[in-house]
Amino acid sequence: MAARVMPWLLAAALGTSSVAAAQKAPDLALTPPMGWNSWNHHGCDIDEQLIRETADAMIANGMRDAGYVYVNLDDCWQGERDKDGFIQPDPKRFPSGMKALGDYLHQRGFKFGIYSDAGSKTCAGRAGSQGFENQDALQYARWGVDYLKYDWCNTGTGPAQRNPREAYATMRDALHRSGRPIVFSICEWGDNKPWEWAGEIGHLWRTTGDITNCWSCRIGHGSWESLGVLDIVDKQAGLRRHAGPGRWNDPDMMEVGNLPELAQNRSHFAMWAMLAAPLIAGTDVTGMSPQIAEVLTNPGIIAINQDKLGLQGFTWFKSPEIDVWARPLTGDRWAIAIVNRSAAARAHTIDWGREPLGDDLNQRFAKIGERHYRLIDAWSGKAIGDTAQPLSVRLAPFDNAVFVLEPRP
Ligand code: GLA
Repeated sequence: MAARVMPWLLAAALGTSSVAAAQKAPDLALTPPMGWNSWNHHGCDIDEQLIRETADAMIANGMRDAGYVYVNLDDCWQGERDKDGFIQPDPKRFPSGMKALGDYLHQRGFKFGIYSDAGSKTCAGRAGSQGFENQDALQYARWGVDYLKYDWCNTGTGPAQRNPREAYATMRDALHRSGRPIVFSICEWGDNKPWEWAGEIGHLWRTTGDITNCWSCRIGHGSWESLGVLDIVDKQAGLRRHAGPGRWNDPDMMEVGNLPELAQNRSHFAMWAMLAAPLIAGTDVTGMSPQIAEVLTNPGIIAINQDKLGLQGFTWFKSPEIDVWARPLTGDRWAIAIVNRSAAARAHTIDWGREPLGDDLNQRFAKIGERHYRLIDAWSGKAIGDTAQPLSVRLAPFDNAVFVLEPRP
């Protein structure tokens, strides 16, 4: 007679605390997460006062109300583990403790994000979560954490390296067991094609190595290199099929505000919107100029990013100087972004009648010819004509124009 295994026994044997299968928290990040992260501007130099002041500044400059609700600590918040193995914050930098910081954020309408690493140590050499996944997840849940970015440093080398799928699933399961819904951000830099396996494990996954604050560059750091905005953008080709509500390609936290030219900051933001990328600001909010706050809070560009269909855009036309991005939106609307990659002013014309606008992958096709679409300038919100006529734009160096096509009633 075949032996019968009771489900609870099986669950116990597998080390799971309940019969329900561990899964990533459902119904989170149904549109790309929006927030701020400390790393790109502040690096390791963070403390509780900076985090509180950043949150206050995000209220004052309109970022919170524009949707930037996650306030995320990156590396270097950690102190030592206590005698029972529970991670503690750096007592000098976070003397009030993490629960108090989480409360401060929650009381002001934010969500609280934190960072750890699947290896023995984080990239900056603080305690990693390997072997402590359950305890760390429990501790985060006690502190009221809503978002975990989980890095990939010090996970071993060669055949001894951790299996990324297993390592990330282990933390997913630990977060599940903690009982708190936590957005899980996978950060293994695209090394192991996470777009092929991470959708069941996390809500977003980095597709590349680290971004840096230049328009187009690669900066070597020995075993790895950081990448400029265009270098990152060009690595997104072919990945859009893997993205959708609750599962996003993450081309990294934004350098908007950190790039030298205003037009570069605007175009970086427009491209992240077209890519359905997480909009995690990475600049100094307390010292932000009004122009950068205006870019980051632009309602038309944010609405494109947050479109509920969740279809990632694609390059519809490409030349060495000009990229034209297209993205299907709800209600038979389309977003079009024309980006000048170059340091010289450029003109570009789209003749709607001649260039069929369609997304073969998702079988969505604009019905230009059957009907005309109104054109709305997404940056200004102004109606500027329709698709019965060709559209000609002149773009300043590095600048862009973004339009939404809306079917005429
Ligand atoms: C890695 C990540 C970065 C940042 C640093 C922190 O490089 O990719 O985004 O989190 O670690 O040390």
